[in-house]
Amino acid sequence: PDLVKKLSAKRSFNYDESKVPDYELPDPLTMNDGTKVSSAGQWMTKRRPELLEQFRNLVYGRRPDTAYQVTFETTAEIENAFEGLATGRGMKAIITVDQRTYTFPFVVFTPNHTTGKTPAVVAINNRYFIPLEKAVSESDPYWPVKTLLQQGYAAATFYTSHVDPDNKNDYADGIRAFFANGNPPSDDAWRSLSAWGWGASRVLDYLSTLPSIDANRVAVVGHSRGGKAAIWAAAEDERFAIAYSNNSGCGGAALSRRGYGETVKQITTVFPHWFTPQFASYADREHELPIDQHEAIALVAPRAVYVTSSDEDLWADPRGEYASLVAAAPVFELLGKTAIDEPTMPPLDGQRIVGQTGYHVRSGGHGLGQVDWDFFVKFMESVWR
Ligand code: GCU
Repeated sequence: PDLVKKLSAKRSFNYDESKVPDYELPDPLTMNDGTKVSSAGQWMTKRRPELLEQFRNLVYGRRPDTAYQVTFETTAEIENAFEGLATGRGMKAIITVDQRTYTFPFVVFTPNHTTGKTPAVVAINNRYFIPLEKAVSESDPYWPVKTLLQQGYAAATFYTSHVDPDNKNDYADGIRAFFANGNPPSDDAWRSLSAWGWGASRVLDYLSTLPSIDANRVAVVGHSRGGKAAIWAAAEDERFAIAYSNNSGCGGAALSRRGYGETVKQITTVFPHWFTPQFASYADREHELPIDQHEAIALVAPRAVYVTSSDEDLWADPRGEYASLVAAAPVFELLGKTAIDEPTMPPLDGQRIVGQTGYHVRSGGHGLGQVDWDFFVKFMESVWR
């Protein structure tokens, strides 16, 4: 209650559950023309593509259809990282269109002593770049690479701003401007969240070339703005088997219609490069959006989705994140899977896993730490068991 008072006073945003408007969510299983979706086939061939298009048009933008080549270069290597546990590589992705190239670095660790193919985790890092040496010498709670390796996972990461600068004024330096040949983005062109997800897919391209990696078991992970990008990455790229969206809030897991904490108006004003202008136009009229974020989660089905909240991270709307995950359940169920459909949130610091979806709400503030990773590893084990 003190926190709510403090936050409400500081900013003119709603942190009062009783002021959340009544809302009706769009039904993911109703086609735009009103037809009910009644089979898995209909979802995959008709409704899913239709929804994907709507999210491109209204929220994240459309990726370019320009043909490109991607190649990879090893820039550094540590064969016996973490006392021989893994091989670490500093990598460069080189994107070529005609004669022009765009490059971004990433880092990959693969376990040295495993039998069979290894699942992998691709982390979208929106905080900073972690060069190879640093990944080995300093542990980072947001990317606990050593622990992941010990648990049998390969781990890769890249820095969002290396793919598309996380700054509304730096469009010209990013992959979007590269593809657009320096032209400004059209209204429906991809925005940064989509570009970051695209970056994760290029890292997956590389992982898929490694014989030691099981490309059918690769998770995309992101925190906050990276967690928004992670959901969309898996929506756009069906090769990702799991999306892990940590404290992702508005434009991520949280329902826009609740208007709790961060709103469409706020996010599109402060971060105009994340979303299309069409999304911004729904400021203060979220109830008119033909879609809501539960349907972004549903786009990942029948693959797996893990969502987290932190009880003090009210800006991200924990209840809205959970409600959204639950509202996606009918799609998983139509596809013959199970998913969390219990409307009441699990107890604080407890975890809930049902089939293809998982959730926990951790005590504390906005962040990603070992506790979250431990829960997430349990989820991966449950999905890939
Ligand atoms: C801001 C922003 C959020 C975002 C967060 C983050 O708080 O308003 O939408 O999730 O930054 O990325 O940490």
